[in-house]
Amino acid sequence: MTGHFLAPVLRDGDEEVEQTLRPRRLDEFVGQERIREQLQIALDAARGRGDALDHVLLVGPPGLGKTTLATIIREELGVGLRTIAGPALERKGDMAAILTGLEARDVLFVDEIHRVNRAIEEILYPALEDFRLDIVVGQGAGARTLTLDLPPFTLVGATTRTGLLTTPLRDRFGMTFRLGYYEPPELASIVRRSARILGVALDDAAADEIARRARGTPRVANRILRRVRDVAEVRHAGAVTLEVAREALELLEVDERGLERTDRELLATILHKFDGGPVGLSTLAVSLGEEPDTIEDVYEPFLLQLGFLQRTPRGRVITSLGREHLGAPAAPAGLF
Ligand SMILES: Nc1ncnc2c1ncn2[C@@H]1O[C@H](COP(=O)(O)OP(=O)(O)OP(=O)(O)O)[C@@H](O)[C@H]1O
Ligand SMILES: [Mg+2]
Repeated sequence: MTGHFLAPVLRDGDEEVEQTLRPRRLDEFVGQERIREQLQIALDAARGRGDALDHVLLVGPPGLGKTTLATIIREELGVGLRTIAGPALERKGDMAAILTGLEARDVLFVDEIHRVNRAIEEILYPALEDFRLDIVVGQGAGARTLTLDLPPFTLVGATTRTGLLTTPLRDRFGMTFRLGYYEPPELASIVRRSARILGVALDDAAADEIARRARGTPRVANRILRRVRDVAEVRHAGAVTLEVAREALELLEVDERGLERTDRELLATILHKFDGGPVGLSTLAVSLGEEPDTIEDVYEPFLLQLGFLQRTPRGRVITSLGREHLGAPAAPAGLF
C-alpha cells in the first residue's frame, strides 16, 4: 500500500513501539466499558472456580485493541500464552502439535482466525467443545480415529468481521466482544498515557486535538503522537503544544475529521468517477489500486461510521455528508 502513514494497519517497525504502549492489565485498558465489565466478571468467575475461561471471540476493525485484550486476558489469568496467525497454520499436524503442547488453562490466541483453513478448523471443533483431539491414523480401510484428551484451555480468536467466520466456529465461542470506535476523551487519555511512557511533554489541548483526529482508533492516536513528537523535536523545542500538533497533522494530511488522503481519494473516486455511486467494491478497488479486503476492513468502517458512505445492495454510494466533506454540492433531489 502507498501514500498513507496512519492507516490502522501494522507496518514494519511498529510492533516494538506497540509493545511498550500496550496496556497490560484490564484496568489500564481505556474505554469499551461493557466489554471490560463483562470480561472482568468472566475472569473473576473462572479464577474463582479454577476453570479455564470460556473461549472469547474479539471482533473489530484494525487497531482497536483485539491483540491487547488477548494479552490482558492471559496476564489477568496468570497463565501461558501461545499466539498464532491464522494464515500461518498450514497443516493439521501443526494445529495438533500446538493443541497438545498447551497446559491447563493456557490461552491460545489465534489472530485473523477467519483465515484458518477448513481442515484445521475442523480439528478445532471437538478441541473447543470437549477438549478432545481426533486424529486419523492410517489410510483407507485400515484408518482409525485416535482420540486424545486435551487440557482445558481458552481460545481467544480475533477477526475484523464476524461474517467471515463459519457458523459452527462462531458458535463455539462462549463470549463474543465487538470493539467499537473510541470517543475522543478516551483517545485523549490513551494519548496522554502514551506520552508519559514515551517521555513526551504534551499539552492537554494537543492531546485533545490528536484524539479528535485519530479516526476513533488507539493505534492511530499513538501513531499520530509519534509523528507529532518528531515535528516537535525537529522544528520546535520538543514540547507538544496545540500549534505543533496542528502543524504535524497538516503535514500528515489528516483533515479535521481525521480522514487521510486515501480516505478522501476513496470518496472522491466514488463521487467523480462513478457519479456518486453505486459502485461495486471490486471496481472501486481496481480504481484505487487497493485490495478489496483493505477497503472493506480498513477504510470503509470509519467512513460508514461518519455517515460519509453507504453500502447498498448495488454497491457503495457517497452520502450528502460525504459530498459536503469534499466540498461538493449536494446530490440532485431524489437520489437518496
Ligand atoms: N483500550 C485501549 N487502551 C489503551 N491503549 C489501547 C487500547 N486499545 C488499543 N490500544 C493501543 O493501540 C495499539 C493497537 O492495538 P491492538 O494491537 O490491540 O489492535 P488490534 O485490534 O489487535 O489490531 P489488528 O486488527 O491490526 O491486529 C496497542 O499497541 C495499544 O497501545
Ligand atoms: Mg492485532
